[in-house]
Amino acid sequence: MTIQGYAEGIKEKVFDEVEEEKGLEVIVSEVNRLKKIINEMILLAKLESEETSFKKESVSVENLVNQVLERALPIAAERKIEMQQKVAPNLHLIGDEERLLRALLNLSFNGIRHATTKLSITALEEQGLMKIMVEDDGEGISDDLIPHIFHRFVKGKNGETGLGLAISRAIVEQTGGKIEVGKSKLGGALFTLTFPITSKKIKTVNPLCDIIV
Ligand SMILES: Nc1ncnc2c1ncn2[C@@H]1O[C@H](COP(=O)(O)OP(=O)(O)OP(=O)(O)O)[C@@H](O)[C@H]1O
Ligand SMILES: [Mg+2]
Repeated sequence: MTIQGYAEGIKEKVFDEVEEEKGLEVIVSEVNRLKKIINEMILLAKLESEETSFKKESVSVENLVNQVLERALPIAAERKIEMQQKVAPNLHLIGDEERLLRALLNLSFNGIRHATTKLSITALEEQGLMKIMVEDDGEGISDDLIPHIFHRFVKGKNGETGLGLAISRAIVEQTGGKIEVGKSKLGGALFTLTFPITSKKIKTVNPLCDIIV
């Protein structure tokens, strides 16, 4: 309706120059917002239907987290949010690297948007499970929103489209893991991704061969 209103107004020449310029700015920003929603909806539909299009590659968690930090750096710097990471060495996941990156970026962009001063990413092995935690020191997620937070189009204060977490959940579940939300010791939201440790590279006596168990 916003696009239609401004476009018709410009066509009928009912605006002065300043209003027309403002109208064009609003049209461009609304078109970009709609483009983002459509792209996210297409991605979500794909994630829920094409299991086969998921790659099954060995993904280094250290590498993955470094890529997340690299891509999130400009937004974090703009918002003056400090990013910390603590990743145990030699952690690997079997999954689709691009999609796992998307899942973690969605959580990190949310964290940066809601944080007061910092975002922290931790990856470790605990009781035979691999955990990746993304947390921040913002206001956290309200108790009434928590049960619905991974549903599509659910958004809270300062939310955008409400599709990011639904996409992250679909990716984590397609990778054989689960995603949970809780409260961080830092004061804000805590998202925990848990994956079974399906394979581990073991160094053998013979340096020419690695056994995958
Ligand atoms: N780290 C966080 N701290 C506080 N609230 C959060 C956090 N992460 C998500 N939320 C809340 O959960 C809602 C849903 O998040 P989700 O990522 O699905 O959608 P979004 O960020 O609003 O839009 P987008 O589709 O662009 O990601 C957000 O609108 C926000 O209210
Ligand atoms: Mg989001």
